[in-house]
Amino acid sequence: ICYNKQEVIFMNDLIKKDMLLYSDIIKDDHPDLRQKSLPANIPLSNEEINVLKLMNDYLWNSYDNEIVEKYKLRPGVGLAAPQIGILKKMFCILAYDEKGDFHNYCIINPKIISHSEEKTYLETGEGCLSVDKTVNGLVHRYRRIKASVYLYDFETQELISTVLKLEGYLAIIFQHEYDHLYGKLFYDRINKENPFFIPENSHPVIFSPQDE
Ligand code: NI
Repeated sequence: ICYNKQEVIFMNDLIKKDMLLYSDIIKDDHPDLRQKSLPANIPLSNEEINVLKLMNDYLWNSYDNEIVEKYKLRPGVGLAAPQIGILKKMFCILAYDEKGDFHNYCIINPKIISHSEEKTYLETGEGCLSVDKTVNGLVHRYRRIKASVYLYDFETQELISTVLKLEGYLAIIFQHEYDHLYGKLFYDRINKENPFFIPENSHPVIFSPQDE
């Protein structure tokens, strides 16, 4: 197990925490967000499990209006370890897909092994907990991806190796978080000359209207 000095400092701070606040998330002027992350240890160290738990809890807290208001959290559907200063290949996703199904993944050492030619995008553009300002423009990503990953399950405390197949909104979130592991931010992928350009093979995610 090895960590760089900066990580040890962050880890020591994080270990004392039982919850992440919005202020714990580093912003896009921080050089760590431009670094390439290292693979996490397999099996995970206790520190890495702790980091995953803090990230996953932040996302769960995002869905609790009382907690959001009390701690002034900015809600999110995905959070990657580099965003809290830990340059490890780990991220969490907690989101409803376009059909209204709920997904929670704690992903470790992902590798995209194949993808569709077809692309997709969010008509509202993307946002990021590490980007305070609104950036106008569309981000086109693969509509379907297949990725080899480790998934950590907090209930069973099991780490399983599997291949995830995702499409549409979930595939977008996955690729956004995956980019964080390679020092890339969503606005890097917006067409500079024509931010709202739509390639022929890209179609928007359509969210089905939710009843109630
Ligand atoms: Ni982000």
